[in-house]
Amino acid sequence: FVVLGASGDLAKKKIIPTLWWLYRDDLLPDHIHIIGYARSKMSVADIRAKAFPYMKVKDSEKAKLDSFFAAMSYVQGSYSEEDGFKKLDTAIKAFHNGNKANRLFYLALPPTVFAEVTQNIHDHCFEHEGWNRIIIEKPFGRDFDSSAKLSNHLSRLFDESQLYRIDHYLGKEMVQNLMVLRFANRLFGPVWNRDNISSVLITFKEPFGTTGRGGYFDKFGIIRDVMQNHLFQVLCLTAMEKPASNNADDIRDEKVKVLKCIRPLKLDDLVLGQYVADPEGTGDAKEGYLDDPTVPKGSVTPTFAVGKFNICNERWDGVPFILKCGKALNERKAEVRVQFRDVPGDIFSNGVVKRNELVMRVQPNEAVYCKMMTKSPGMNVEPVETEMDLSYNLRYKDVKMPDAYERLILDVFTGSQLNFVRSDELSEAWRIFTPVLHQIENEKVNPIPYKYGTRGPEEADVFIKAAGFHYSSTYKWVNPNL
Ligand code: BG6
Repeated sequence: FVVLGASGDLAKKKIIPTLWWLYRDDLLPDHIHIIGYARSKMSVADIRAKAFPYMKVKDSEKAKLDSFFAAMSYVQGSYSEEDGFKKLDTAIKAFHNGNKANRLFYLALPPTVFAEVTQNIHDHCFEHEGWNRIIIEKPFGRDFDSSAKLSNHLSRLFDESQLYRIDHYLGKEMVQNLMVLRFANRLFGPVWNRDNISSVLITFKEPFGTTGRGGYFDKFGIIRDVMQNHLFQVLCLTAMEKPASNNADDIRDEKVKVLKCIRPLKLDDLVLGQYVADPEGTGDAKEGYLDDPTVPKGSVTPTFAVGKFNICNERWDGVPFILKCGKALNERKAEVRVQFRDVPGDIFSNGVVKRNELVMRVQPNEAVYCKMMTKSPGMNVEPVETEMDLSYNLRYKDVKMPDAYERLILDVFTGSQLNFVRSDELSEAWRIFTPVLHQIENEKVNPIPYKYGTRGPEEADVFIKAAGFHYSSTYKWVNPNL
């Protein structure tokens, strides 16, 4: 397992800790060897020191941790020149049975070096008896053309079956559960359509800003960072037809079909926001996006966006899929909210009966709950709102929920591409977003300011309401743990 970019942030915060958790739980293959590769002069001890704060090691696991790092080595080399990659190849071949070892290359690298690194891996590290797999992380380009250029480059070098494009939302428990909920329950299948569903709201909220990564973020913005990938994957799994089987390509075929039914997004179907400081706030809340020294002065990059999409097919035409995402908001939350139509012919007092909603909460506190009406307990025959609730930490008390990266890296070892993005999914997603992204940039469309720690711009709530999502403040989900 070669971690390219071993000195970087992603490696220390995610990849090395994830490999450790898998190793700790005996989920990695026997005789695994991990090689860090980067330009800096460093050692395994340095990698250990950098990653340790993120590894959550218990005192009782110290011996195992030592054996994990004993299975690691480091190769220093440049990304653009072949020498380093030849050295890497020699280092792998020097292991016992090294020539037969299967090789997995994780590109924990900035996109600027993707092309040269993959070329070098292909040219100098691919000649041996075992298999080769490449894991790459977004951003897969910035728009349709740059993404196509990268895809063409990769497809010249590798077979699609060797490529694992990570979208870590596909490794989340509840995102993986979407297929089971939909296709293993008779309860939902027959009503999962435009006749019964009035809108679908997919939300991603984070309570912190871009501090520390403003420089990166500003080149991409929230639409490329979250909506075009994470939220679109969730949209596809929510909207797709039942695949012929649960194998990777059958599922990815269905996702692509959904995307093909979505027209390019228009500016009118978007609300954009950018967070500003909350002078009364504490800590980071005192800094707006533009106060981050790594963000260019006067940047109009959105940190918040709501988009409305129509899936123009038999099942969904006319049902708005509303995708909302933002940084520096009032809470951390990611969920899918399927809102049903009004009950026709209401026989109860006007307005009491509220719409049903099926909510799949991705994080925090995974839960599936159904908002429904019941008779208010007692003498009266009055409908009241309630819920049928499957809260994971109550129902599955002792189950350890693996981190998204743990599942995904394990999938790569086992050769399952089900939870990875295929190149045609990617190009369809870029087709939908590229025109509006270019328009926003060319016209320097001003995002609406919203205060750090709020729900986002009020205009977004107005837009969501107008799009057809009914919000009644009468219901609040009560955390059953409290
Ligand atoms: C990443 C984005 O892909 O996902 C980040 O680049 C975002 O901006 C992160 O914070 C959210 O991931 P999670 O797993 O914390 O919801």
